[in-house]
Amino acid sequence: MRLLLLACVGVWACCVGVAGQGTSRSGRVVYLNQHLYPSLLYINSAAGSTAVDSTRAADGDSNIIQLILYPATSDPPPARNATVVLGGGTAEGKLTLTQEEPPLGPTKIEGVITGLTPGKHGFHIHELGNLVGGCVSAAGHYNPYRRTHGSPMNIDRHVGDLGNIEADATGTAHVNIIDPLVRLVGPRSVIGRAVVVHEGEDDLGQGGDEGSLSTGNAGGRVACGVIGHA
Ligand code: CU
Ligand code: ZN
Repeated sequence: MRLLLLACVGVWACCVGVAGQGTSRSGRVVYLNQHLYPSLLYINSAAGSTAVDSTRAADGDSNIIQLILYPATSDPPPARNATVVLGGGTAEGKLTLTQEEPPLGPTKIEGVITGLTPGKHGFHIHELGNLVGGCVSAAGHYNPYRRTHGSPMNIDRHVGDLGNIEADATGTAHVNIIDPLVRLVGPRSVIGRAVVVHEGEDDLGQGGDEGSLSTGNAGGRVACGVIGHA
């Protein structure tokens, strides 16, 4: 009896794991993430990498399926927080990101940015938190759903498309955004990616040319910073 019990526990441990990774019989990799509430189960739609890679955008969707497992009863999950220190160019600032109701609730982005030229500036989350070569190393807009560039008000947009911020006559912009697609938990979390502030205005995909549908023609990068856990 005790042996049987141990065997059962063994099978359970193999299947459930603790923040582990295993390979199922079909060869697909299953990731399990045992936070308190809710749990996240990540399954590859095909054997291989779980990378969200915009250079492979031609085939449409990204290759991660996200299942969110809710317990029958639970306390609300704790809020998640992140911070960004912006620099690396002519402007600077600090931002806080808060997701009050993870994993699916909106994320609030607040802060102050100085050293801008008066007027509108494209404001995005870019794919990489890599700033080794300056803001340009952050690559393109964070786009896990393989959409075209657009306004934050559109359904068809990059997750990273946060529109424009507007600087006053002193070059200061107050950021106060609540975005429904930006997440601080799960496989499409923006933590570890970068916020980039642009020299010019984002045309929100309305420019009528190719650049408009990929970058919003917002021009050079005047500040950037990595989104980090707080
Ligand atoms: Cu950008
Ligand atoms: Zn975009």
